[in-house]
Amino acid sequence: MITSKQSSDFILDSTKDTRVIPVLVVDDVSIAADLARTLVDAGMPVLEVTLRTPNALQVIEAMAKVDGAIVAAGTVLNEKHISQCKSAGAQFLVSPGHTDALIQCAAIEDMPLLPGAVTASEIMRLSDTGFHLLKFFPAAISGGVNALKAFSAPLPHVQFCPTGGVSEQNMGDYLSLPNVPVVGGSWMVTQQDLHDKNWKMISAKAQAVNL
Ligand code: 3PG
Repeated sequence: MITSKQSSDFILDSTKDTRVIPVLVVDDVSIAADLARTLVDAGMPVLEVTLRTPNALQVIEAMAKVDGAIVAAGTVLNEKHISQCKSAGAQFLVSPGHTDALIQCAAIEDMPLLPGAVTASEIMRLSDTGFHLLKFFPAAISGGVNALKAFSAPLPHVQFCPTGGVSEQNMGDYLSLPNVPVVGGSWMVTQQDLHDKNWKMISAKAQAVNL
């Protein structure tokens, strides 16, 4: 059984070198390995595959076999998702929010969880259970950089991974905050580039992330 603190430790450690997690919405299993390879080779080994497409679990399975890839499952909403993602080979779970059932099940299944929170009360609640790295979603409309700056004064022991409205243009503003070790976003991998199998463009956008 993994503790909440160990969950946050694991995800912080996995993302410490890259600091950016590409958020992927992929349904075509046949392109999964090429996409993962492209991102790993471009210096983005941590990949969040959202459970928003019918074939997302097969995509996770294919990507998890790519050397060097650390595949996370995103949009994890319930216990069923947790066991499915674990079987598919996901190394950690990302949820837009959190429920008691989700937290308990992830712990029992030994799956590190990045739970979501956007209010002081939600943050305090998760921090009380031992999490010290939280997803801040949807970041832009929940106050963005200013909100995270404000949380760092009363809640300095909690760190955040903002997603939702993070872009190449504003990621530096987020990452310069002391309580933001990592950000996530979908801007590196557009549906058009996936459709065109434009690995060159995806690689260029991933490599353009200069930390
Ligand atoms: C997520 O699931 O984390 C977000 O939908 C990603 O948001 P973005 O598309 O604005 O980057």
